Amino acid sequence: MSANKVIIFGVTGVQGASVARALLTNPKFSVWGVTRNPASKSSQEMEKLGVNLIKGDLGDASSYADALKGAAGVFLNVNFWAHYKGNNADEARDIEMAQSNAAVDACKAAGVGLVVYSALESVGKFPIPHFDAKAEVVKYIKAQGVPATILYSSYYFTNLLSAKLEERGDEIVLKLPLPDDTVIPAFNPNQIGLFARLAFENPQEWTGKDMFACGENVRVDKIASVLSDLSSRKYVTMGVSRDDFLALPGEMDQELWLNYRAFVDGLMSRNPEESRKLVPEVQDFTTWVKADKDAVAKFGLRS
Ligand SMILES: NC(=O)c1ccc[n+]([C@@H]2O[C@H](COP(=O)([O-])OP(=O)(O)OC[C@H]3O[C@@H](n4cnc5c(N)ncnc54)[C@H](OP(=O)(O)O)[C@@H]3O)[C@@H](O)[C@H]2O)c1
Repeated sequence: MSANKVIIFGVTGVQGASVARALLTNPKFSVWGVTRNPASKSSQEMEKLGVNLIKGDLGDASSYADALKGAAGVFLNVNFWAHYKGNNADEARDIEMAQSNAAVDACKAAGVGLVVYSALESVGKFPIPHFDAKAEVVKYIKAQGVPATILYSSYYFTNLLSAKLEERGDEIVLKLPLPDDTVIPAFNPNQIGLFARLAFENPQEWTGKDMFACGENVRVDKIASVLSDLSSRKYVTMGVSRDDFLALPGEMDQELWLNYRAFVDGLMSRNPEESRKLVPEVQDFTTWVKADKDAVAKFGLRS
């Protein structure tokens, strides 16, 4: 096994690129990334940073299996949304699971030292296919006895960059259809690499353990008040009641609604202070929104 070779699936994506950037700060790692298209703009950007590209497709394990041989580590994140067309959540879940399990098999066959798997949990009360796929893969990893760290992520702060804003008189309504007191366990996904790097740097400590990445359990009304405090605008929430929210299916994407319902029902639990003990620089909402150029521009924040 090459002591320091780490291979990242999804290296051109949000999570994978974060892992690549974090590992590249430590010269002991040789950083490799799987992409379907090494010629794409995002692949080329990663190559310029120092990532060695591997042409491979998660839908065909034979395309990347040889490249895994001798790797000390693999970061595995499989994108549910690539297979989701709005009405086929169960099919997308099954494809995500099949692709993920095939990658786990390939890691096992190649003798990879540590798999860091980007996970979500099943919430139990109702199915959420894009959470459940990942929870099933966690079971598979454990059943296969593959050395792994399960890295549970949270809602991306960056999702707010695509939230709709509606001007209403001198107020701006943040179009998040959630009750004001909804708590969203969230983080800056561009920091997930700091968590993954910790595991790859200390595999003896992290093999067989769970890790949670969260920057803040942020309330919906706090998001609006922070945006107001940091700008000269008055941001308000939609003022949705729990009953309004429960009546929404049919009016919004079902998979996203289920994800929101996990927050509304308080079914996703994260402890940001524990995350901060691992990665002291993990950002809370205020720190993220002030530092993110796109957020500053979108929300008209004072510089
Ligand atoms: N949004 C949230 O709040 C949130 C929170 C927690 C977890 N998540 C989870 O995060 C996952 C998405 O991760 P992300 O945000 O990093 O995705 P992303 O930025 O959309 O990137 C997707 C990546 O997947 C790769 N990919 C897609 N299909 C592939 C295939 N067949 N073979 C190889 N690579 C493939 C792409 O690589 P190429 O195009 O270069 O091949 C790209 O690097 C989802 O499963 C979602 O459930 C999201």
